[in-house]
Amino acid sequence: MSVKDIFDSLSYGPAPESAAPALDWIAAHGGRFGHWIDGRFTAAGDTFVTRNPATGGLLAEVTQGAAADVAAAVAAARRAQAKWGRTPGHERARVLYALGRLVQKHARLFAVMEVLDTGKPIREARDADIPLVARHFGYHAGLAQLVADELPGMAPVGVCAAVVPWNFPLLMLAWKVAPALAAGNAVVLKPAEWTPLSALLFAELSREAGVPKGVLNVVTGDGETGAALVAHPDVAKVAFTGSTATGRAIRTATAGTGKGLTLELGGKGPFIVFEDADLDSAVEGLVEGIWFNGGQVCCAGSRLLVQEGVAGDFLARLKRRMARLRVGDPLDKCIDIGALADPAHLARVNAMVAATQGEVFRPDTPIPPGCFCAPMLVTGLSPADPLMQEEVFGPVLAATTFRTHTEAVEIANNTRYGLAASVWTENVNMAHEVAGRLRAGVVWVNAANLFDAAAGFGGVRESGFGREGGWEGLRAWLRPAGRPRPLRAIAPVAPPAAPMVEGIDRTAKLYIGGKQARPDSGLSRAVWSRQGRLLGHVGLGTRKDIRNAVESARAAAPGWARASAWNRAQVIYYLAENLSARAGEFAARLQDLTGRPGGAEVEAAIQRLFACAAWADKWEGAVKPVPLRGMVAALREPQGVIGMICPDEAPLLGLVSLLAPAMAVGNACVLVPSRAYPLAATDFYQLLDTSDVPGGVANIVTGDAAELARTLAGHRDVDAVWAFAGAEVSALVERESVANLKRTWVDHGQAVDWAAGGVRPFLEAATDTKTLWLPAGM
Ligand code: NAI
Repeated sequence: MSVKDIFDSLSYGPAPESAAPALDWIAAHGGRFGHWIDGRFTAAGDTFVTRNPATGGLLAEVTQGAAADVAAAVAAARRAQAKWGRTPGHERARVLYALGRLVQKHARLFAVMEVLDTGKPIREARDADIPLVARHFGYHAGLAQLVADELPGMAPVGVCAAVVPWNFPLLMLAWKVAPALAAGNAVVLKPAEWTPLSALLFAELSREAGVPKGVLNVVTGDGETGAALVAHPDVAKVAFTGSTATGRAIRTATAGTGKGLTLELGGKGPFIVFEDADLDSAVEGLVEGIWFNGGQVCCAGSRLLVQEGVAGDFLARLKRRMARLRVGDPLDKCIDIGALADPAHLARVNAMVAATQGEVFRPDTPIPPGCFCAPMLVTGLSPADPLMQEEVFGPVLAATTFRTHTEAVEIANNTRYGLAASVWTENVNMAHEVAGRLRAGVVWVNAANLFDAAAGFGGVRESGFGREGGWEGLRAWLRPAGRPRPLRAIAPVAPPAAPMVEGIDRTAKLYIGGKQARPDSGLSRAVWSRQGRLLGHVGLGTRKDIRNAVESARAAAPGWARASAWNRAQVIYYLAENLSARAGEFAARLQDLTGRPGGAEVEAAIQRLFACAAWADKWEGAVKPVPLRGMVAALREPQGVIGMICPDEAPLLGLVSLLAPAMAVGNACVLVPSRAYPLAATDFYQLLDTSDVPGGVANIVTGDAAELARTLAGHRDVDAVWAFAGAEVSALVERESVANLKRTWVDHGQAVDWAAGGVRPFLEAATDTKTLWLPAGM
């Protein structure tokens, strides 16, 4: 093509980036790699190949990690962690900052390596992935510097496992390795089998930045290697990004082990276009939202919801824009969509599209042979169509229409996922209203796929739990300092040989929806004092009672969450005053139940209620200083419905310590009181009744703690379960929680000092941050 031809057609010519730097690095290692353990490459063992999906060409052979490799890496990490964890924050900060600089220095090499291994366009690797990686290390250098002063009393977790996917191999490494190292942990990283090379390159170069040997280890391999890593007994925390199915497997594998876990899973992000939106901007946003990285993005805007009045116009503009997207050689700087990550993945995407009942639009643009896929728009889908519900993870946009903003929110939330959403409107009130009602961890207004290290990222529902980025992300890499004490089990007082039964029969009922209710079983059990006196009976609640309580809580939760924080504070102050007025009676009851004077526990419970009331309107979010004009807010949102298994060792204070903070920030709760001393809770009904707590906000079901915990943990309409009833119940709750991947917070058989400790950890557990991006500009 002559220069004149180019001027005449104004079409792009090829602008290929050279693959040489990356290929030279692979060749310098003989094209075969072992693992990176203890600061050096091990000899290659049983290998598998990694290919360039754009050409099908062989890139390198990589070792399939066996259990012995995992064990060696974990042992190296363990040896290194003790010293790294004691290294002053300032020195860790220097290393992290050097890692960021190193990524900048080798930016081209990293970008090309990423393109060769993943097939993503060089424009994206160069302009998005690699700068974000550098930024992530730079930001976390700052957190390493500040963590000891800002989060006193916290310690590193120890050896952490990071298991990452193939869509953003180096960025996902950064999202895990940077906070892990900042907090003083050592890491064993398992990259995805299709894309292991940038992690190996990074590990080798990390020595230049001064990362001590053993602090960062990379073991390559497939899902079996990943499974061996997460199961290793010396791994204290697992951070995973990938499919919801694998997230479930990891939740099951780690249940009851005491390991920390964060999961960043799939999504089916709604992209909502209102009729007053700037339609051309929204079309460009959609290009970013669904065709970035060929749609192989967990937070892709893969469901287009467009308001009826503009749907025809919008779809016509979108189709014109789709026809101009260039699909081809990912090393070409003019390419919009590169190769998909692997032929097996392409086959999966094509199979999903082939099975749809909808109408598929593919622009008439040239698609090279091989692992390439045209951008697609699918219309005419029912809400239940797999393309509207399941993650395709390819360049496929499913579209539908809506009439009102209420309907838009309903459709948007009609999914088991809740990762990210994008809202397009020029009406600022509408943007806020809709963003607030979307069930998602991240909401972009008039934007899509914006990220920064200072802004938390992560989901709700089956998109997983935990946040990556920001202060909120750092917490998962820390634990309270100090040695935990084992929990001492407390059994209910056994029926005495010579019972003392006096006065009238008093059977405490359950408390559901603001009313006392008889247990479905019709059964009750006697509660005895230590002296053999019959104190009363408690109902034995069943699965059905839990279901009723959850229904009541679900119905009450939205109104309670919308109530002003000051309103919630007043209700909790009222509870505190009412408990104060009856302190003597509650203290006597505790003494009867436990045999110990109850005054101090009642006083502590009153103070806890006051503290929670105080916090209700002070549990603030944050405005994030990201490198973007506009505002990025981290909003604290309640979890929704929380199930709580209360402790035996502080039957009143434990219950109040769980319930009050959760209520203060807008949750509705279902409590299972102490098994040994349940009457401390049933007396509490009267306080709930007389303190203006709306019906359904606090529900109490007495009965067998393990059985009721199982029902709560397996219930799909419960958002979180907290269990402080020993190791067995902890394991059971974590195992059963896979049903909807609910959040869990359990004691793992370790004692909690209920009298000490502030309210903060409870408020943290009771809320999630929603990151709201509001870019400025015309
Ligand atoms: P995957 O979730 O199986 O793989 C992610 C990582 O987990 C890889 O490193 C893999 O080796 C590892 N892994 C697999 N099984 C494991 C186990 N039992 N224990 C520990 N680690 C294990 O994802 P896959 O199969 O590559 O992709 C399947 C689908 O998942 C995609 O089509 C897409 O829909 C979704 N996906 C979502 C991602 C996200 O960012 N949310 C990323 C990758 C895939």
